[in-house]
Amino acid sequence: MAKLTLARARELLQKHVAEKHLLLHALAVSAAMGAMAELFHEDRDHWEAVGYLHDVDFEKYPGEHLGHVHELLSGEGVDDADIRAILSHGYGHCGDVEPQVNLEKSLFTVDELTGIVMAAALMRPGGISDLEVKSVMKKFKDKRFAAKCDRDLILNGCERLSLPLETVVERVIEGMRRYMDELGLGPKAEA
Ligand SMILES: [Fe+2]
Repeated sequence: MAKLTLARARELLQKHVAEKHLLLHALAVSAAMGAMAELFHEDRDHWEAVGYLHDVDFEKYPGEHLGHVHELLSGEGVDDADIRAILSHGYGHCGDVEPQVNLEKSLFTVDELTGIVMAAALMRPGGISDLEVKSVMKKFKDKRFAAKCDRDLILNGCERLSLPLETVVERVIEGMRRYMDELGLGPKAEA
């Protein structure tokens, strides 16, 4: 089976997701996964593809999230390891597939962390272009900031990865910066 590419993942997600905020979230997680792949010397395009598809069934089946990933993707040439990786990001809240390999552990961790980074970048005139790790760390500690992002889950993910939170934050910023224009996180034009 051909390896899943980001280009193919974009085609596939279009069939199942139309809401703009979900597409932006898909792109943010994809971008972050690309930078995690680089950290582990893995295939960046492939990790970005898996990240891009991770919430593929959420718009159509919000109450049964991850229950329909298999039926949406297995007929499309997406291999079982990639489907397993997608399922494992819901470990502990929507499913019992435990993240085992670095691809899975990374997805589990960055899914929530991208929300904090996105919110932090949106508040700044420079967007994500000059966002620093220490400023995200401060926001991480402020539980009221992007309150929906589950800090305990992120820390649990870092533990699984055996990486300090700072390292993962740095990767997420770096990955998302590469796609800042598409994410709407570039520097704001001066009025
Ligand atoms: Fe997600």
